[in-house]
Amino acid sequence: MRPWFPSAFRALAALSALSAVDGYFLHMQRECRYSSEDLKDIEYFDRYVFNKLEYMRYNSTLNKYIGYTDIGVKNAERFNKEGEAERQHGNLDGYCKPNAELDFDSVLRRTVEPTVKVKTAEASSERHTTKLQCSAYDFYPEGIKLKWLRNGVEVKDGVTATEELYDGDWYHQIHSYLEFTPQSGETIQCQVDHSSFSQPKTYKWDPSLPEGERNKVIIGASGLVLGLVFAIAGLFYYKKKSTGRILVPSS
Ligand SMILES: *[C@@H]1O[C@H](CO)[C@@H](O)[C@H](O)[C@H]1NC(C)=O
Repeated sequence: MRPWFPSAFRALAALSALSAVDGYFLHMQRECRYSSEDLKDIEYFDRYVFNKLEYMRYNSTLNKYIGYTDIGVKNAERFNKEGEAERQHGNLDGYCKPNAELDFDSVLRRTVEPTVKVKTAEASSERHTTKLQCSAYDFYPEGIKLKWLRNGVEVKDGVTATEELYDGDWYHQIHSYLEFTPQSGETIQCQVDHSSFSQPKTYKWDPSLPEGERNKVIIGASGLVLGLVFAIAGLFYYKKKSTGRILVPSS
């Protein structure tokens, strides 16, 4: 899949000063904003925030400081007059551009492969249909494609899917379902395409019982065998005992 670029990618550097005694908090933030990998329309901001209120900002598009409070307006005027705006403009080339490659490599170009599971979600014996579930977990970034293949040919009928769900930790997950009538000898596969793969990968559905069901069968069968062993042993014991005690008629 093609590499991915978000609508706006921001790289932040923050400097904070805290006066613990009075509970005042000054925060200065430098921000490079990238909207394409070729660094076209790159923007740079220098923000000044006091007690959560942004009171002054340098904006590279305007190439000047803007104040948002009385003190902010005063400082912006002074900064603009003293050539601070010009100096900040240099950060576009001197700071944002050289850092772009590092930021892209550490965040945007990083990919994480999904963990894919194909299983039986539901089997309806009266309608002879089966519902399969193909789940892809923990992939990054978003942008994934799931397809169902029956004997290598894409199936579209009976397919439903969730959206790509965000896990809240950079990773995403998605689930696709196929409802169909199984036939013996056929191969059902889930095909996944993601930017972490050089080519799509397929995952085969194993029509044997799911693991949980298989364990129940194994436990049940073991119980049956154990029961039979005891029953047969008991029978032999009983036979032996009763033949040893053949009553001899007394005369
Ligand atoms: C920077 O200035 C441009 C031009 O006025 C404006 O469109 C943009 O919203 C500003 N960005 C910020 C973050 O202030």
